[in-house]
Amino acid sequence: MDFQHYIDFEKGLVDRRIFSDPEIYGLEMERIFARAWNFVVHESQIPKTGDYFMSWIGADQVIAVRNKQGGVSVLLNSCRHRGAAVCRAEQGNTKTFVCPYHGWSYGLEGELAGVPGLRDFYRSDLDQKALALGRAAQVASYKGFVFATMDPEAIPLEDYLGDVGRTGLSMIAEKGDMVVMDGIQKNVIGCNWKIAVDNLYDWYHPPFSHKSAVLSRFSPVFDDSDKVFKPMQQMVLLGEYGHGIGGPMWTEEELEAARSAGALVEPALAQRLSPRVEDAMGPAGRRSNGHPNIFPNLWITLNGLQMCLRVPRGPRRTEFWWFTFIDRDAPEEVRNLYVKVASHLFGPAGMLEQDDGENWELASRGTVGPAIRRYPLHYGMGSGHDEVIETGGQARIETRINEHGQRWTYQAWADWMSARSWSELEANHTPAPRGTI
Ligand code: FES
Ligand SMILES: [Fe+2]
Repeated sequence: MDFQHYIDFEKGLVDRRIFSDPEIYGLEMERIFARAWNFVVHESQIPKTGDYFMSWIGADQVIAVRNKQGGVSVLLNSCRHRGAAVCRAEQGNTKTFVCPYHGWSYGLEGELAGVPGLRDFYRSDLDQKALALGRAAQVASYKGFVFATMDPEAIPLEDYLGDVGRTGLSMIAEKGDMVVMDGIQKNVIGCNWKIAVDNLYDWYHPPFSHKSAVLSRFSPVFDDSDKVFKPMQQMVLLGEYGHGIGGPMWTEEELEAARSAGALVEPALAQRLSPRVEDAMGPAGRRSNGHPNIFPNLWITLNGLQMCLRVPRGPRRTEFWWFTFIDRDAPEEVRNLYVKVASHLFGPAGMLEQDDGENWELASRGTVGPAIRRYPLHYGMGSGHDEVIETGGQARIETRINEHGQRWTYQAWADWMSARSWSELEANHTPAPRGTI
């Protein structure tokens, strides 16, 4: 099936049906989520043997557990007997996962370790080896971020991430010995997951949508939001398979000035001056202070403070999981500040997320009616007006507020949805744009 006709990359038009059609949603679970590398847990969340964290890969619930070899097993949370969930806590530590229905128990590698009545009822006639929990086809870790894919054919994680995905994750990883703070904030918004994803590239809405948050003066960021959000000084990096980074940037001149200013520089910029960061993020990537998205659904917020996983739970239902990162050795007052910021900006009580959530819900509802579906959504801002710069580091666009990241997301979406296998996706996906965009 050809999904390219749902989008028009050049004009920036996207068919509204893709945001609410249940059949398309079902196919996304297979062709995007069951195929992509999905973030499942950060290493710091499960340091000890038996530590586990419950996660989702599209429609499949998985348990990421630290196994006896020190690796991470990613197991499907469904008993091989009659399908009940073998784990019902969101995180914890265990020796075995015991199914609540008939009591089958599974070890940390998913092996079926115990069966009540094995001798008396099954008469010792049960192939236990063949009845291990289902598991991810591949699991791999990049700088502490553990990803899993259900597709044995998927290309290696580092190739999948490419330069743009790796630069995005480095925005968190290169800040220090980063760990996830306990307490993942979770809430549900009545929107399609993609509406939330495309918003992360949207630097057009903050002055309008988030005006009341700005007026509250809660964060110093809001005191001079133009200086932080830089509407006329934006950088976009687009990577294969749909990854991207978009948002404010520092110029080479600003970087040079920061070097000579030393300690007086804002902390976010100061972190980008080290040679180690240049190696990890590249000469252009380290000038980006934008928002990365690791395709399909992992958003890293400004300055790599937090990460949000947009877990699809239905065509118009998405769970938002907020992970807050902090340096392992951060002093108590810094920790407290992070908790305050994390609970007041994003998450269920977040000023920004309440504004965004309302918009995303309204926008998703606006894709349902048969008449309104005749009018595609518009993502055309800046199309045809910018050039991809290839000199001096990574290919990038340096421009003003734009919708390149959003259009790229939907181009990648169409590529993923049209391909019937990983090898087809690898052969046919759209290469990262060059020239005029
Ligand atoms: S369903 Fe799990 S033991 Fe029967
Ligand atoms: Fe927003």
